[in-house]
Amino acid sequence: MNLVDEIKNLKKEKNALILAHYYQRDEVQDIADYVGDSYYLSKIAMNSPEQNIVFCGVKFMAESAKILSPNKKVYLPNSDAGCPMADMADVQSLAKLKDKHPNALVVSYINSNTDVKALCDVCVTSSSALNIMKNIPNEEIIFLPDKNLGEYIAEHFPNKKFYLWDGYCITHKKVKKETVQALKDLRPLAEVLVHPECEKEIRDMADFLGSTGEIIDYSVRSPKDEFIVLTESGVIHEMKKRSPHKKFYVPGTTMTCINMKKTTLEDIYITLKEETNEITLDEDVRMKAYTALENMHLLS
Ligand code: 13P
Ligand code: SF4
Repeated sequence: MNLVDEIKNLKKEKNALILAHYYQRDEVQDIADYVGDSYYLSKIAMNSPEQNIVFCGVKFMAESAKILSPNKKVYLPNSDAGCPMADMADVQSLAKLKDKHPNALVVSYINSNTDVKALCDVCVTSSSALNIMKNIPNEEIIFLPDKNLGEYIAEHFPNKKFYLWDGYCITHKKVKKETVQALKDLRPLAEVLVHPECEKEIRDMADFLGSTGEIIDYSVRSPKDEFIVLTESGVIHEMKKRSPHKKFYVPGTTMTCINMKKTTLEDIYITLKEETNEITLDEDVRMKAYTALENMHLLS
């Protein structure tokens, strides 16, 4: 039996659900029950009846699923798959920043570690951030860890005062204006689709800005046939599936997240068979982080 069939059998036998982010390898997306952006996957993980969840993404995503569903078993098939941006925010520095701005509401991108979420009031994802911010009356906001997403949100709320953390996504920061201009010169009819984790000079070149899920949906409904895609290149897999006749261009391998690509079919097979790499969290910290994630779902 081949690996794909073995995984399918084990999945049935163990009553497991496989979730994959759009940045995962093509073959991992293909084996998953649901593929999506961070917000969509966190909702599926919370509402699905399966008691075993194999989360093909990075650590903060699997931890978020566990925070929301403490009674389910959540597995991260490759335990080395972390997020460098999440690791840029630490509890000590955040505690100091909170002391400095006692009236500020603390808003964290879901791309953060659990101990950091525990010190926050509400989480957002790139697709839910603007909606959530509309429902927040506070005038002062501490936003972490992504400065680029924070700036993008702040541009939409000029009446609020934002204190932005100095973190960034190493994958989205890599793309340069000159590279995008060269791609535009080569493909003058293409629309430029950009994730808000990119730097401002790249966001300013966008025809459409949004989360991975929003970028994919846009490419389907746009009357255009060509797109320059400026987010992690894994999204192209779903875009091609949904619009086989359209063309998608990426800046070479510049925007490949090595952490998102760590999870292999072998990892999924071993995780299901041996029930390894289960996420465990300190209950006190989990409860505090739960409030921030619950608020995300309530406010969005
Ligand atoms: P979204 O799926 O929310 O757009 O997330 C982007 C990301 O960088 C995930 O690591
Ligand atoms: Fe983290 Fe960026 Fe990779 Fe997402 S794409 S997991 S934010 S490093």
